[in-house]
Amino acid sequence: MTDPETLPIVRTVHHLRAMVYAWRREGQRVALVPTMGALHDGHLGLIRLAKRQADRVVASVFVNPTQFAPHEDFETYPRSEASDAAALTQEGCDLLYAPSADAMYGPGFATTVSVQGVSSPLDGLARPHFFGGVATVVAKLLIQCAPDMAIFGEKDYQQLQVIKRMAADLDLPVRIIGAPTARAEDGLALSSRNAYLTPDQRQIAGMLNKIMAAAAEMVAEGGWVQTAETEGQAALLAAGFEKIDYFEFRDSFDLRRLGPDRADGVPRLFAAVWLGKTRLIDNRGL
Ligand code: PAJ
Repeated sequence: MTDPETLPIVRTVHHLRAMVYAWRREGQRVALVPTMGALHDGHLGLIRLAKRQADRVVASVFVNPTQFAPHEDFETYPRSEASDAAALTQEGCDLLYAPSADAMYGPGFATTVSVQGVSSPLDGLARPHFFGGVATVVAKLLIQCAPDMAIFGEKDYQQLQVIKRMAADLDLPVRIIGAPTARAEDGLALSSRNAYLTPDQRQIAGMLNKIMAAAAEMVAEGGWVQTAETEGQAALLAAGFEKIDYFEFRDSFDLRRLGPDRADGVPRLFAAVWLGKTRLIDNRGL
């Protein structure tokens, strides 16, 4: 095993740029993988994809306060820098950027990046502060690091589309790459928040992917979107999910609702459900 201490950790933009610019001057391609830490195999899959696409891989770990609402889990969000650094070293990551909140948001910070349209439905309704916080911090990370490419998971599909929109609109010179969702054996999408689930809740959580697969198959075979949504929602409640924020098909590019014949887009199924105090999200194509 490699010594975890061999992974350099930088905490300031100045030190980050010194490393990245040196690599880029030598003609090496740099990939950035932004995270909030508590790394699991889903995150590490992004690092592995980055390794295949670029010469150098930078991971950032920053639990971004501005994407949490006051009642959400910012204080209790799992933080584990030492084991994250060890896992990143194992995967051959070249640099960990882990700034403090004070370094990221200096005194008088007053700027927000707001992406209209694609931020509005789904999680934008359920968590109105969320995408402003995400777009702002990701814009900052991309400007701070100036990578050739940045990798994000399809697990957070709406986030991926918001970031693609932002990067295109702001002419950020970076390629945004989406990576497929890593899942547990029963199909549950890996997530740092799965750690909050009790064993009973974890059992129920595995049903989400199966119910989504059934609804997507129904629509893929020509079934009605509304019937698939209603039946899926009933199946979720019967399985023991306590609350459904949404379970609906939308266009996979701009997340619009599709017309009844679906000819105006490519449908994708999006879900957010609650088990106790834990909110799970997932999505899938047909
Ligand atoms: P975080 O939830 O830590 O996720 C970091 C990255 O890992 C995101 O791109 C997310 O989509 C991806 N990811 C998480 N679980 C995954 C899984 N099971 N399979 C594939 N990819 C997965 O998303 C964030 O952090 C933040 O909002 C961030 C973009 C870092 C901005 O603060």
